[in-house]
Amino acid sequence: MDSMREGAALHDSRQSGALLRYSNLAVAFHWLVVVLLLTQLWLGFMFHRVLDEGPLRVEYFTWHKTVGATILVLVLIRLAYRLINPPPPYPEEMPDWRRQAAVWSHRLLYLMTIIVPLTGLIAVSDRGPTTGLAGGIQLPTVPGISEATGDLSGDVHMFLVWATIALVVLHVAAAFYEQFLARCGVAYRMPPLRPSHHQPVVIGQGAKGSPREG
Ligand code: HEM
Repeated sequence: MDSMREGAALHDSRQSGALLRYSNLAVAFHWLVVVLLLTQLWLGFMFHRVLDEGPLRVEYFTWHKTVGATILVLVLIRLAYRLINPPPPYPEEMPDWRRQAAVWSHRLLYLMTIIVPLTGLIAVSDRGPTTGLAGGIQLPTVPGISEATGDLSGDVHMFLVWATIALVVLHVAAAFYEQFLARCGVAYRMPPLRPSHHQPVVIGQGAKGSPREG
């Protein structure tokens, strides 16, 4: 029923020149991951750089692992949803190089939000068969990890954190570029960003026959 409605919306939008945006669920996933990622960076920075050894540091580390595991699960669910519901097609006037840049930076962001938590998990896997999360939950670690491999994974984790920060800075800069300079209807795909002029915006994700990006 929903996809019929979205299919009709897509058809109508092509007729009326309306802008196409992500579905409400995709938007909720996006902003939830943003909030968790920012919280995660703060937790990581606090226990890694600010706090001394002690119970408070352990508590921050426990929350860091908990939020990391949550991001991993959420991103996997988000990806599954995205595979079933293709994103709205880009506006026709968007140049191909910008389209490719957007597609590949999104792919990298998805990859990072999966491998950064995994390298974190491997980094603590030499310390025992499980690792403690908030609420006393015991998360199984990866078996057969030596101390040297654990240390190496910790270093890779740190490197990828900085790479993710750089990628996010680039992504946000691109969003602002699209919103304020290019204005070809790309930033508006992700509410609450919306056009300053009165052009209608309709859901264009998951519509039957909607072409994939790229
Ligand atoms: C203030 C911060 C942010 C703004 C303003 C913003 C804005 C946007 C906009 C406008 C889009 C749609 C672009 C398009 O479809 O080409 C988008 C998509 C996306 N954003 Fe962000 N974003 C922000 C932070 C983040 C962060 C921190 C991540 C890290 C994971 C992220 C990951 C993504 C991904 C993966 C997509 C593609 C979604 C998909 O196609 O499934 N964003 N963002």
